[in-house]
Amino acid sequence: MDARDMGQDLEKVLFTKEQIDEKLTELAARIDDYYGNRSILVVGVLRGAVMVVADLVRKIHAPVAMDWMAVSSYGSGTKSSGVVRILKDLDTDVTDREVLIVEDIIDSGLTLSWLLANLQSRGAKSVDILALLRKPDAAKVDVPVKYVGFEIPNKFVVGYGLDYAEKYRNLRGVGVLAPHVYQ
Ligand code: IMP
Ligand code: MG
Repeated sequence: MDARDMGQDLEKVLFTKEQIDEKLTELAARIDDYYGNRSILVVGVLRGAVMVVADLVRKIHAPVAMDWMAVSSYGSGTKSSGVVRILKDLDTDVTDREVLIVEDIIDSGLTLSWLLANLQSRGAKSVDILALLRKPDAAKVDVPVKYVGFEIPNKFVVGYGLDYAEKYRNLRGVGVLAPHVYQ
């Protein structure tokens, strides 16, 4: 799906697929610098991070294992509900593993601070976080996000995995959803 397929539902394109790709190349280089040839367990947060994980891991030279968690903090609206639930847990034992959580976006920071504590408590050797996008509110919580793709304004965005009510995940790039869609 391209911007023109969304018509009036898309207010503005923020990042094209090509810009995202360039950014992921930069982040993958930093990841390789840090891990060297040690193996990484990439934990993708379903469903929004699917595209980020798929494109990122292919740029990493170190050995990568992939697993997935699904958590819910939102329901189908545009505001965090404040409650995190595990909808799908990892299949992998993270004991002594070097874990890299990959998330599409950090907004209130609630989801990631909870996930970080959760994986640390299972005995991972290290847990780091990569988020493709970061909204300003994330600065208010103390979540150490090591790798950030882009800082974005406080608008509801869709595309490249991010949805509104399960729509627009297949938009190639990332854009601002027009408020008339959810108001
Ligand atoms: P947080 O817990 O408030 O940081 O919310 C993080 C989660 O909320 C992300 O994993 C997304 O699923 C969702 N989310 C936050 N902002 C947006 C947005 O602008 N568009 C789509 N999903 C969002
Ligand atoms: Mg998410």
